[in-house]
Amino acid sequence: MEKPKQVKESALEIARLMMPENANTQGNVYGGSILRLVDEIAGVVAARHARCNVVTASLDRMDFLSPVYLGNLLILKASVNYVAHTSMEVGVKIDAEDLRTGRRIQTGTAYLTFVALGDNGKPTPIPKVIPQTAMERLRFREAKLRREQRLRDLEEKRKKKAG
Ligand SMILES: CC(C)(COP(=O)(O)OP(=O)(O)OC[C@H]1O[C@@H](n2cnc3c(N)ncnc32)[C@H](O)[C@@H]1OP(=O)(O)O)[C@@H](O)C(=O)NCCC(=O)NCCS
Repeated sequence: MEKPKQVKESALEIARLMMPENANTQGNVYGGSILRLVDEIAGVVAARHARCNVVTASLDRMDFLSPVYLGNLLILKASVNYVAHTSMEVGVKIDAEDLRTGRRIQTGTAYLTFVALGDNGKPTPIPKVIPQTAMERLRFREAKLRREQRLRDLEEKRKKKAG
């Protein structure tokens, strides 16, 4: 397997101007268009880390903390928080900037789990991630706890489904 990688090797920041095609019926930005961007940037970060095909296995609860308006610049920052074996958590921070005032508001944070797939379409091991800064180490520890909770929830769901 490839050697461990640093968080900064796959991290990304993108900015998108919110245009009329991003509007909901009230004329603000539609949550679904933000979610699409979240899944896109997180998936690219996951693929850059794993350097193979990845699929979204889960998206944790996401709260929209404040509305985003047309004409705002949406800024998404994404990085790998934690790698288990074939899966990894990518965190995405979403800010909205008012271009006239420069005021930036945090709109939300999302945590997504991606699973790397080999050429046979089955989960395949990926390089570990090495957190280096204090913030990266904190995110790593928190992501590990979230994974444990996620797996417990998944197990519960499977048990309920099985009756
Ligand atoms: C994600 C998927 C590949 C996992 O397949 P699986 O047969 O459950 O695989 P495994 O049980 O071997 O688990 C593989 C890894 O995925 C993780 N995983 C599986 N389901 C998960 C879930 N719902 N949330 C978080 N992690 C999950 C496991 O913890 C494991 O991680 P690890 O190897 O790092 O310990 C499979 O459920 C799938 O293809 N789902 C559809 C994905 C998709 O199409 N997404 C696009 C949106 S539709």
